[in-house]
Amino acid sequence: MVKLFVNVDHIATVREARQGKKPSPFEAAKLALLAGADGITMHLREDRRHVQDHDLREFAARGEAPLNFELAAVDEILDLCCELRPPLATLVPERREEVTTEGGLDLVGHSDRIQAATQRLQAAGIAVSLFIDPTPQSVEKSHDLGADIVELHTGSYTDAPDEESRAKRLAAICEAAALTVQAKLVLNAGHGLDTTSVGKVAALPQLADLNIGHAIVSRALMVGMAEAVREMRQAIDAAQG
Ligand code: PXP
Repeated sequence: MVKLFVNVDHIATVREARQGKKPSPFEAAKLALLAGADGITMHLREDRRHVQDHDLREFAARGEAPLNFELAAVDEILDLCCELRPPLATLVPERREEVTTEGGLDLVGHSDRIQAATQRLQAAGIAVSLFIDPTPQSVEKSHDLGADIVELHTGSYTDAPDEESRAKRLAAICEAAALTVQAKLVLNAGHGLDTTSVGKVAALPQLADLNIGHAIVSRALMVGMAEAVREMRQAIDAAQG
């Protein structure tokens, strides 16, 4: 069965808007796991715009469910990942000015850095996933660099402007997925998926994990809004007797 890893970064985005304690990514992770998630994903960015080091430390220390630690191949964050030793780490590209992870890793331009990071994480007992664009070249290069897993970036599929390009982009994902399995790499996928787009990706043969965040957090805000307002109304009414 395909595993669902819920990315709780954007719970921390809301918390960081006030730089306080709520909402807690850790509490959100617990709820996600109770509701059927198989694991939790967090992306510790260099600019710490959402999750913070203590979020990863807290989740890893409890060890209640698998953690997928997403990171760029930079020493400071590799140090923390090797210290926490999650079962899985996903190397992603990172540009400070980007809104989200906009594309897959540049495995040619940064091959030495990615290979060194992969080896370092593997030496710490961590399985390494490379977040790549769904192309045959990227799959082949991931294999050459010694990855255990590839995560195919599904963002171009979910962002497709029309049905024709959507079908073409899905076909590219299917081809890259088949090559991944042929290369004996574990197959993961994610980015931009929601309940309307997840089906075709979830149906890929031998898909292991899906990483999904923004759509779940967005929906959680909407389905939780009515209850949150009712609670506040009751608190106000109770004070007025
Ligand atoms: N996979 C990777 C490697 C990501 O960087 C992200 C976003 O942080 C996701 C999956 C989840 O994407 P989304 O939040 O759009 O579901």
